[in-house]
Amino acid sequence: MTRLPDPRLRPPDGGTLIDTYGRVARDLRVSVTDRCSFRCTYCMPAEGLPWLPSAELLTDDELVRVVRVFVSLGVTQVRLTGGEPLLRPSIIDLVRALAEITPRPTLAMTTNGAALARLAAPLAAAGLDRVNVSLDTVDAEQFLALTRRNRLGDVVAGLAAASEAGLAPVKVNAVAMRGVNDQAVCELLAWCLERGYELRFIEQMPLDAQHGWDRSVMVTAAEIRERLAERFTLTDLPDSARGSAPAQRYLVDGGPATVGIIASVSAPFCGDCDRTRLTADGQVRNCLFSQRETDLRGPLRAGASDSDLADLIREEMWRKAHGHGIGRPGFHQPERPMSAIGG
Ligand code: 5AD
Ligand code: SF4
Repeated sequence: MTRLPDPRLRPPDGGTLIDTYGRVARDLRVSVTDRCSFRCTYCMPAEGLPWLPSAELLTDDELVRVVRVFVSLGVTQVRLTGGEPLLRPSIIDLVRALAEITPRPTLAMTTNGAALARLAAPLAAAGLDRVNVSLDTVDAEQFLALTRRNRLGDVVAGLAAASEAGLAPVKVNAVAMRGVNDQAVCELLAWCLERGYELRFIEQMPLDAQHGWDRSVMVTAAEIRERLAERFTLTDLPDSARGSAPAQRYLVDGGPATVGIIASVSAPFCGDCDRTRLTADGQVRNCLFSQRETDLRGPLRAGASDSDLADLIREEMWRKAHGHGIGRPGFHQPERPMSAIGG
């Protein structure tokens, strides 16, 4: 990456969210709530977390306004995340309002799937284009151990409903945890292939609220690939098929089905990152691992104009660091856990 001018300077005038390494953010991740109905061990403690007070959450109108400003700055894809986004009571209305923004961004959602059986059809009707469902295992005991909830059946029904509602391609995100589901990655892939879901494995990142992550126990992308190769023939898809998408994708048994492996830690893709993030309480984050945020909620409630908000967003993105630096000396896990940032 060649470096553009000094990050302490203001970003150049212009319509996009560029940083000093020349990357342009097009993909906005919006956390619409920090709450969740699951307690995945790699994310939250069993008792949950001190949730954000509702007065601190952006209202639907505030959220739509901020997303509109992001779209005016070149964002073309909006992904709703959480916590669990389907716990936001107004989620259907919110999707409908976001789908009215022009130019209309692509609307995706990352969900734990527990409420999708009921909500997939209304979400699709409101304008949602795609879903990623988090599902680490199809074994009920492993599912309970990982999520601390006995809801595998709901998630399976949710995936079927998403498919039925045309939220395609239905993607499944999985985190492999050593000693829990790492021996069962082939079963999960076979299960997804049978149903036409596109599976992607994600390396576990240091984003858990308990700060219990340890690189030495993380199941690496290389290990997942080796294990899958015991049962399936994996063929690399050329890099050109990857773009800024973080998953290294493989054709399975000659295709057309694929599987993705996201080596967020062992082979970071920060150089191609096109993401920006908005937390449920209205803070812009230029990276999952950023140590700072820019508050939009305060200015918004104090009467800031769209162009004031745009300047704040552009300045935060301009400062985006070269990479996350996990494992390097000086790396500190961000204070906010994943559930409050948005995957
Ligand atoms: N490392 C990697 N992925 C994580 N997710 C949640 N916490 C972590 C973590 N520490 C995943 C969830 C979901 C998406 C939002 O991020 O499984 O698929
Ligand atoms: Fe909830 Fe997702 Fe965290 Fe699991 S990983 S507890 S589903 S927010």
